[in-house]
Amino acid sequence: IIRRIKSIPGLWSSDYMQWGVEETCQYLRREGLREWEDKFRAQKITGVGLRYLTDDHLEKIGIGYLGDRLQILHSIRKLWQIAAGSNKVFNDPIHGHVELHPLLIKIIDTPQFQRLRNLKQLGGTYFVFPGASHNRFEHSIGVGYLAGRLVQALNERQPELLISRRDILCVQIAGLCHDLGHGPFSHMFDVMFIPKARPEIKWKHETASLAMFDYLVEDNNLKPVMEQHGLVLPEDLDFIKEQIAGPLNTDAWPYKGRPENKSFLYEIVANKRNGIDVDKWDYFARDCYHLGIQNNFDYRRFLKFARVCEVDGQKNICTRDKEVGNLYDMFHTRNCLHRRAYQHKVGNIIETMITEAFLKADPHIQIEGSGGKMFTLSTAIDDMKAYTKLTDQVFEQILNSSSPELAEARQILKNIICRRLYKCLGQTQAEKPMAVTQVRVFKLCWALELAQSIPQTGSQEASLRPEDFVVNVIVMDYGMKEQNPINNVRFYCKNDLTKAIQIRKNQVSKLLPEQFAEQLIRVYCKKRDEKSLEAAKKHFVQWCMDRNFSKPQDGDIIAPELTPLKASWSNNNNKGECSGNGSTREANCVSANGPKKAKTQLFK
Ligand SMILES: *[C@@H]1O[C@H](CO)[C@@H](O)[C@H](O)[C@H]1NC(C)=O
Ligand SMILES: *[C@@H]1O[C@H](CO)[C@@H](O)[C@H](O)[C@H]1NC(C)=O
Ligand SMILES: *[C@@H]1O[C@H](CO)[C@@H](O)[C@H](O)[C@H]1NC(C)=O
Ligand SMILES: *[C@@H]1O[C@H](CO)[C@@H](O)[C@H](O)[C@H]1NC(C)=O
Repeated sequence: IIRRIKSIPGLWSSDYMQWGVEETCQYLRREGLREWEDKFRAQKITGVGLRYLTDDHLEKIGIGYLGDRLQILHSIRKLWQIAAGSNKVFNDPIHGHVELHPLLIKIIDTPQFQRLRNLKQLGGTYFVFPGASHNRFEHSIGVGYLAGRLVQALNERQPELLISRRDILCVQIAGLCHDLGHGPFSHMFDVMFIPKARPEIKWKHETASLAMFDYLVEDNNLKPVMEQHGLVLPEDLDFIKEQIAGPLNTDAWPYKGRPENKSFLYEIVANKRNGIDVDKWDYFARDCYHLGIQNNFDYRRFLKFARVCEVDGQKNICTRDKEVGNLYDMFHTRNCLHRRAYQHKVGNIIETMITEAFLKADPHIQIEGSGGKMFTLSTAIDDMKAYTKLTDQVFEQILNSSSPELAEARQILKNIICRRLYKCLGQTQAEKPMAVTQVRVFKLCWALELAQSIPQTGSQEASLRPEDFVVNVIVMDYGMKEQNPINNVRFYCKNDLTKAIQIRKNQVSKLLPEQFAEQLIRVYCKKRDEKSLEAAKKHFVQWCMDRNFSKPQDGDIIAPELTPLKASWSNNNNKGECSGNGSTREANCVSANGPKKAKTQLFK
């Protein structure tokens, strides 16, 4: 087959939509339909037109027999339907039997992709939820598959979009490869480890996904294979990478891989506009399944309603107006998953401890990279040959080692295995969220403040040092900082499928979030003996009082002698329902009648 394709240059290596009349005739010949060539030529039928050819058209141009017409339509449809025959089938617990194109299989069967089998999707969360042992490998296949489902759904619903087989393959490849750059324990590596090990660089796993994708293509000599399957290089490689990491520059139309009239293709794998993308759909379903949590977002419904509409000269993926409530639910689901699982207080402290162990082990772990050069845990991200070898297995490697320079790291990991974890003292919130840069600075001086926050009712003589405290600041949001992501979604209505509209929160419901982001401050203590812990909890309560943070939920139990000393922490009225400081409280309480009214109405 490959030889046949090669013998017709310019046919498979380009997209049928760019074919002129002659190339179209050439295709008919190749399909054994030589006798109709002249009719097509006389009617000046080009590649773009093929998409619109109907049985009626063929009859009108004088193809008399129905059988002939069906034969022609069959051959033409093959151009945009990815041939099913040679596809491989995977049985996935989430999506059932998943079919993937042979080019995708070529990408999957490489060391760089197979590496994802050894990266836990949820990092340290597996130490809390015994089912959460799934890996980036199956998630990546799921995203590749769903990316194909969404782009094909659009293609079938709206042939006028002229989505090509090339487009479909590139979107699927981007889905497959979007997470190639994750490191050990997934987000622990890019959110905790690298920022501490190399504070001078700005690094995200997407950065490494691009580098790893390039390396995967080079190392496995995939460029010729991609060209055989109709991709156009380097344009399509740019397109794939832009879908993963966003635009390479910041012009009016910042993308290189596809023109503005295909902008919707950039909203499938990683939607920078509003965060609604197939990556989320897969991880919601997959993570819930493995965590044992119900998923209440049904992506199949979204697939049914997705349409491309024109918005300010660009084409965006839109959904039906009546689906807006489901989108709020989707972000609510995401937030629930963060609260219950991804930001679980024990899971988080385990990741903090693994990070500590990795930092101590960092200089002593040697990974051979390109040209025999050696790299460490934190420098392996600079060399994809070395990074390919860096997976969760480094945890066991440290644990198994006997070298003295790894002793400290080994001890921390042993403590995790034996569940000798740092203890959570509680959680609180600042009045106003801090900027990310502030968070870094504050975390350092807060440990010192905590050690010095001797309870004003007297200390218990447990001497606590700053290094006994760990402060974690967690951001919970709807994916776009303080913004409401639904404001960046466009909707269409039943009566006009082409017109995109906005729907504001007050058009949806009163029972929706007022704010779209918050920061939680969690404090842990490294000492585990009862006396120190009791003292540390009181330090924590005192510190929250001095800092004007919210009262820890168990504050009245762990420090009953302290909490009454702060007037704004008083329990004896409903004002606790009202957020804000003294002067805004009045105002908030007046409007707090609102929800009450709503409640009575609900039960009428
Ligand atoms: C999109 O724009 C390009 C030029 O940038 C043009 O060649 C192509 O035909 C357009 N496609 C569609 C679907 O309108
Ligand atoms: C650690 O040691 C165990 C038992 O000796 C072995 O089965 C395992 O493969 C080792 N793991 C690594 C990563 O070296
Ligand atoms: C806490 O609030 C009090 C009274 O409003 C104020 O005097 C104090 O400076 C605040 N403390 C901090 C650390 O912001
Ligand atoms: C309380 O909030 C209002 C409005 O947000 C602000 O003007 C005022 O300065 C705040 N007061 C204190 C004591 O922080």
